[in-house]
Amino acid sequence: MANLFLRKSIAELKAEAESSGDEHSLKRALSALNLVTLGIGAIIGAGIFVLTGHAAAANAGPAIALSFVLGGIACAFAGLCYAEMASTVPIAGSAYTYAYATMGEFIAWIIGWDLILEYSLGATTVAIGWSGYVTSFLRGFGIDIPPELTAAPGTVLVQIPEAAAAKLNLVPGWTALTKELQTQLAQVGFTDLQTVKAIINLPAMLIIALVTILLVIGIKESANVNSAIVVIKVAIVLTFIIAGIGYVSTSNWVTPSNPEGAFIPPNTGRFGEFGWSGVLRGAGVVFFAYIGFDAVSTAAQEARNPQRDMPIGILGSLFICTILYVLVAFVLTGIVPYTQLNVPDPIAVGIDAIGMKWLSPIIKLGAIAGLSSVILVMLLGQPRIFFSMSKDGLLPAAFSKVHPRFRTPYITTIITGIVVMIAAGTLPIGIVGELVSIGTLFAFAIVCAGVLVLRITHPEIERPFKAPAIWLVAPAGVLCSVALMAGLPRDTWLRLIIWMAIGLVIYFAYGARHSRLAQREAIAAD
Ligand code: ALA
Repeated sequence: MANLFLRKSIAELKAEAESSGDEHSLKRALSALNLVTLGIGAIIGAGIFVLTGHAAAANAGPAIALSFVLGGIACAFAGLCYAEMASTVPIAGSAYTYAYATMGEFIAWIIGWDLILEYSLGATTVAIGWSGYVTSFLRGFGIDIPPELTAAPGTVLVQIPEAAAAKLNLVPGWTALTKELQTQLAQVGFTDLQTVKAIINLPAMLIIALVTILLVIGIKESANVNSAIVVIKVAIVLTFIIAGIGYVSTSNWVTPSNPEGAFIPPNTGRFGEFGWSGVLRGAGVVFFAYIGFDAVSTAAQEARNPQRDMPIGILGSLFICTILYVLVAFVLTGIVPYTQLNVPDPIAVGIDAIGMKWLSPIIKLGAIAGLSSVILVMLLGQPRIFFSMSKDGLLPAAFSKVHPRFRTPYITTIITGIVVMIAAGTLPIGIVGELVSIGTLFAFAIVCAGVLVLRITHPEIERPFKAPAIWLVAPAGVLCSVALMAGLPRDTWLRLIIWMAIGLVIYFAYGARHSRLAQREAIAAD
């Protein structure tokens, strides 16, 4: 039992972080700028390009901008804690390693297992979103992917005719048939529409395969592709802001459902639908848009100067994206009435609304590129966490094998790629999205608590970056994470608990028996 609370010493972790140079170690190739772009690569994606519209239409109205501010503040607390941890303990395992140093092996395993939800399921979710965007983009050019090959097996898809789409403010073409959609279609007189049952989500599998190949080939190559994509997607977001800002009309913040007050529409009588509770629920939804800044910390062993550059990468990317998000939210709700934003491609709809239809395909292309880089950074993060867990003996040794030429953790990258490919091809987006948020928030809470634990237990160690006002920042980070977790549905909690139970079985069946630290302690005790 005592093994469960064994902690790795900071000195040992630092020695691990410094050992590099041979073909068994990861390659130190990333600059501070690479790390900032890695962060932006992971952050800007489905959250802003897909979820914003729905959250504005259903939860917060124009005040979705405030939801973004709240989400940004909550992430800033966690970001500061991650920055301190990543500069103090610059190891590829991220939250897993920080927990190993502060709370012991058992909690570390729990977090390592939990991070699979963030990274693997994060990549899965975004790949499913990518598939939706690509399918609709190609349709715009007359290229139709058979609908059976664009969704999880068993998903019933319905073809929405142009006329119904115009009446209901939907996108024409194939889409998943929900009860709500069926009712809406029936209300406008469309009852007997053609449906098909999906077999597999092929585009989602394809993007995972492509990204996996890139990640095996090299960290520098992957970082370069990511940087190119980041330039494109930031340019697209800036274009939207600059093109749209002149068209913002405050009358869009005062709509028929919100006659007297601007900005926060009145509450509908239900928690989370407009009013301040809507702003809060909106923050919970758009939290997904911020996930990814922490992924920078998994590249700690590939950074040239991790102690200085990790905080720059984590906080720099978070800061830039928060500003962009708040501006996008202001402009979007200022040019399109929020009631019309319940669409899967709100940014493109915004561009259409200001009469720049020609820009719309470019925006969509930018979104597709943007989603690709999120997948890339998530699939970069996951194998590096497995890499650290395997080095500690909690996973089989093969997981920490580094490719002799490419110097990447190729075995874990390929295994992760295959598993995520199967998940992306077969799971519906509704099940995976919220699991990503709950898993990430759980890790945030542990890291924020861990920073404080380390300050108390090891006040003397060198901290190249120190989070300010730690007694305020760390508890606030824990509280915000737990509060956002509390707002997630019961089913998501249940799935988290089941996932954790599976993790415990694996830990006691394998990890606890092979733990290097436990074996060393046992030898020392003899
Ligand atoms: N923040 C990432 C996205 O929005 C996960 O796609």
